[in-house]
Amino acid sequence: MVTNDVFETVNNGSSSKDAASKISQQLDKGAPKDRYAKVYAIASGKGGVGKTTICANLGMALSLLGRKVLLIDGDIGLKNLDVIMGLEEYSTHDIVDCASGKVKFSAAAIQDPRVSSLFVIAASQSLDKSHLTPKQMGLFCHELMKDFDYILIDAPAGIENGFACAIAPATHALIVTTPEHASLRNADRIAGLMEANGILPKNISVIINKIEAHLIADSIALDPDDMQKTLALPVTAQIPFDYDVTASNFKKRPVVLNGRSLAAKIFVNIARTIDGEKVEPIVVKKMSFIDRLLNIFSR
Ligand SMILES: Nc1ncnc2c1ncn2[C@@H]1O[C@H](COP(=O)(O)OP(=O)(O)OP(=O)(O)O)[C@@H](O)[C@H]1O
Ligand SMILES: [Mg+2]
Repeated sequence: MVTNDVFETVNNGSSSKDAASKISQQLDKGAPKDRYAKVYAIASGKGGVGKTTICANLGMALSLLGRKVLLIDGDIGLKNLDVIMGLEEYSTHDIVDCASGKVKFSAAAIQDPRVSSLFVIAASQSLDKSHLTPKQMGLFCHELMKDFDYILIDAPAGIENGFACAIAPATHALIVTTPEHASLRNADRIAGLMEANGILPKNISVIINKIEAHLIADSIALDPDDMQKTLALPVTAQIPFDYDVTASNFKKRPVVLNGRSLAAKIFVNIARTIDGEKVEPIVVKKMSFIDRLLNIFSR
């Protein structure tokens, strides 16, 4: 197990090279030999809720915990993952190339120069979603399960072919919602489709992202606690709308590498939970009565 020091090193602003070499040393000591990857589909009904951001940050956090991780951008035609991770310049082949057998995995997988146990396969920018089938994706990931601890698939929004491809190999799923009615309503439907495709209900959970306390206080966003009561699914984490996430995505550097923001801590917490640790969930703070008054008078 990689210790907290690694996150501390990264968060203290030391170079990512220092962090990477520290991680490599720890990986050499403690890396598990018998792997069989858990495959996570990260999906949502609505677009723009934060799937790609969550995929990038969980992937990075799991790697920093010493796990060998593969991230696959399943959003064919609208690739994003390699871009927000700052790896775009390294991508020469994509998921359609390797899942169709046109190139070998090694030709398409980008090894993250910051953390050697993290690999990314980009999506194609030019092809459309029909170029990949669920069967191809299933076989492709199945082959790789023995080589990784985790495979995270960033699904496109919605329940079309891209979604079917992302859930075909999945053993687990994270459904991302925001505190809006439409997003919440989609979650149970998506879970139903996942279950119908063989993902066990106990392996499906929800992440509520982009929570803004002042919107909840003004009753123009759903309260995560009320969402939890409405959902038939467990909520793995609540993530606030966090300026550092926006900034990190813009700078193409996952926020878990960037500092001590609340969102970064929550991403690390989710990674630890996924990896089997018992961690205290971090609850996004609601506005106090005084905060609400100050908020109203500052308008
Ligand atoms: N917790 C957050 N705080 C602030 N901004 C966020 C947060 N999560 C995501 N964002 C921002 O929201 C936007 C959409 O995020 P992202 O691309 O990850 O969503 P997506 O669900 O993958 O979208 P799509 O459905 O188009 O693939 C981005 O600009 C991202 O920086
Ligand atoms: Mg996306």
